[in-house]
Amino acid sequence: MNIAIVGSGLVGQAWAIVFARGGHHVKMWDGDPSAVAGAATLIKKQVADLQAAGLIDDPVGLIARISGCATLEDVLLGADYVQESLPERLEMKKEIFAKMDALAPSATILASSTSSIPASAFTEGLPGRARCLIAHPVNPPYLVPVVEICGAPWTDAQVVQRTWDVMEGVGQKPVKIHRELKGFVLNRLQGALLREAFRLVEQGYVDAEGLDVTVREGLGLRWSFMGPFETIDLNAPDGLADYARRFNDMYQSISTEQTSTEPWSEAVIEKLESQRRTVLPKDQLLARRLWRDRRLMALAAHKKSAE
Ligand SMILES: NC(=O)c1ccc[n+]([C@@H]2O[C@H](COP(=O)([O-])OP(=O)(O)OC[C@H]3O[C@@H](n4cnc5c(N)ncnc54)[C@H](O)[C@@H]3O)[C@@H](O)[C@H]2O)c1
Repeated sequence: MNIAIVGSGLVGQAWAIVFARGGHHVKMWDGDPSAVAGAATLIKKQVADLQAAGLIDDPVGLIARISGCATLEDVLLGADYVQESLPERLEMKKEIFAKMDALAPSATILASSTSSIPASAFTEGLPGRARCLIAHPVNPPYLVPVVEICGAPWTDAQVVQRTWDVMEGVGQKPVKIHRELKGFVLNRLQGALLREAFRLVEQGYVDAEGLDVTVREGLGLRWSFMGPFETIDLNAPDGLADYARRFNDMYQSISTEQTSTEPWSEAVIEKLESQRRTVLPKDQLLARRLWRDRRLMALAAHKKSAE
């Protein structure tokens, strides 16, 4: 297949690796021409890291399948599937989808990487709105395979299915979101956990490190290979319904204290920031991000070997 990457920033360039690793031909474009050149350099580095971790077999072939384009017209020419990854601004999504719908061949799928904006917010008036949808990744998608697929009410069911097939074909793990909602599912789950974490620190029940240990050395250990429903299915003698009936009152009673919709206060933001900076000084953030990526690669290699 011919894949077009529209926007070659952090997410666009990572998508280029995913599709080229899957054997597709990938063309990249960006409004800033220097971003395409920058992406090509970063892709080479990321691919070398993936090879070092034993996660890809043919780095030379992978890189040879990726090329840059100078114009939006060029990148869309002959594209079967477009992955748009421009900044998270509604007006920008509206503008680029109108242009892509006017320029791309009529059978081309137009997918957006947006983290939170439903497709109906920027495709409603387009003649080709039936071919538009969301394919929301987690960064970097070549290490974190889940991708949320969410159409607008007018997205053609075959476009949703073809996008699912494209994603599965390149080794991603698609999840279908049946109805549009802000933030889709992943960021709503992350948001619910973060809201409670901020609240617990703000009210003095725990500090940042204690909270992180609770997830890192507790809940998170299971979460890298099973979700919360499978977790509770295994945590009561007779499975999920048994668990839900045993603990229904407890969780319901706790939930009455989890209803605040206030924004995070500056006080709690500063409290958490200062606790984090004690553990990790600002000048070590980059080194720690690189460490995180190496750990993710090791985990991806482990999961691949355990499949
Ligand atoms: N960063 C993440 O962790 C993450 C994860 C999942 C989804 N997303 C989504 O992916 C999308 C892209 O995010 P990102 O982090 O890659 O952003 P980014 O800022 O790294 O990249 C955006 C790119 O778009 C280009 N651009 C800006 N304005 C443009 C225009 N008018 N025309 C053409 N090109 C233009 C920029 O030059 C830049 O290269 C967003 O919708 C975001 O919500 C991000």
